[in-house]
Amino acid sequence: MNHWENIVPSRETPGERARMIAQDVEHTSEKGDPSELRVLKIRNALKERGLLEQEVARIKSLFKAELGPFARHFGDDCWEMLTVLELFDEETAWHCVDTYEIARNKVEKTLWNGLVLADEFHAESVDLGRFYRACLLHDVGKIEVPHAVLVNRVTDERCAAILFQHQDDVLLPRLREKLGDNFSLPKSVDSPGALLQFLYDDLHLRPQAVAPIKLLLDEQSVDDGLSEQLAHCGCTPDDSLLDIMRTHDTHSEKILSHLGYTVEGKLAGSHHQHKNGEHRYRITIGSLQVSIDLADIVHLADVENAILSRRHYKDKQTPIDALRVLSLHARQGLVEGYVAYLWIADEMQSINRQALTGSEIAAYDSLVSFLDTERSHHLGWPDWRTTTMEMRKAAA
Ligand SMILES: [Fe+2]
Ligand SMILES: [Fe+2]
Repeated sequence: MNHWENIVPSRETPGERARMIAQDVEHTSEKGDPSELRVLKIRNALKERGLLEQEVARIKSLFKAELGPFARHFGDDCWEMLTVLELFDEETAWHCVDTYEIARNKVEKTLWNGLVLADEFHAESVDLGRFYRACLLHDVGKIEVPHAVLVNRVTDERCAAILFQHQDDVLLPRLREKLGDNFSLPKSVDSPGALLQFLYDDLHLRPQAVAPIKLLLDEQSVDDGLSEQLAHCGCTPDDSLLDIMRTHDTHSEKILSHLGYTVEGKLAGSHHQHKNGEHRYRITIGSLQVSIDLADIVHLADVENAILSRRHYKDKQTPIDALRVLSLHARQGLVEGYVAYLWIADEMQSINRQALTGSEIAAYDSLVSFLDTERSHHLGWPDWRTTTMEMRKAAA
């Protein structure tokens, strides 16, 4: 039984009760049945207890400034989803709203080369409202991940220390699964700190991608039916935290599609990777008539916000750090080249190399090299060093 059933009503404010309910509703996994989505069960539980309406009103007022005029086009069920998300995990809700704001600004402003993406959306009869809805709810699927996993606060250092303690029974077998049976740790990995550095520098892995979740949660959480909760995501306690988290985009797609937002669902479902190599919502932009994938814009805004935000496991990073990761994602094929080029080139206009110090200068120079290389490989791509104003002057 969920423990909120036994709560004495006078102890908590209605808002606190709503939050407690949102975080305690468990899965009763009928795998594959959309009506078993936890987000819907939480919404219904709040409605039954007369708490939904006031919480939706609170969320409308909380995000009023960020949503601006688009708030009018955000339907009732979308407000309910955002409300449930905020009650489930405030950080994720703010991240969704911030991702929407970043994407909207990029789409509506005039880019350095004079392109306005919103105009291109209109020219292709793409409904901007659907795109914005997808941005705002791209991570709503995180509600389907067990709460204890989503809010797990283990740091990279602590996780590396746990793996260091479990070298023979966990760390080595898992790394051998990824890297082959002959893999062994170098002799220099003689402390948790050295292990963390080795994972970062040599394997490009966070320790949370290796350690099974059962080692990262306290015994109570593991005892409280963790396996059953994880089964809802098709995972087990032996899966890593990052593997479990990676299921969220599929859940976002399921939730949005179930509510009738099919396009939004497909965009949200592809914000980390193109599913099955399909590029489903594309528009052709600019005088070059290059086609771009709308899910890539959600991805770029999502990653930029995640890097610029402080998280429990990391400090806030700089815009240069964010652009460096975006360029890496373009090189890895996680986003397509042209949209990444437009985005990074536009951001570079507001960064002054003279004002940078230390490692930021090297990162800036690697971005310059990324942009120059991309441009040299593609005929006709606009020069990121020349702004619209300069282009106009040259033409006059
Ligand atoms: Fe995501
Ligand atoms: Fe996200």
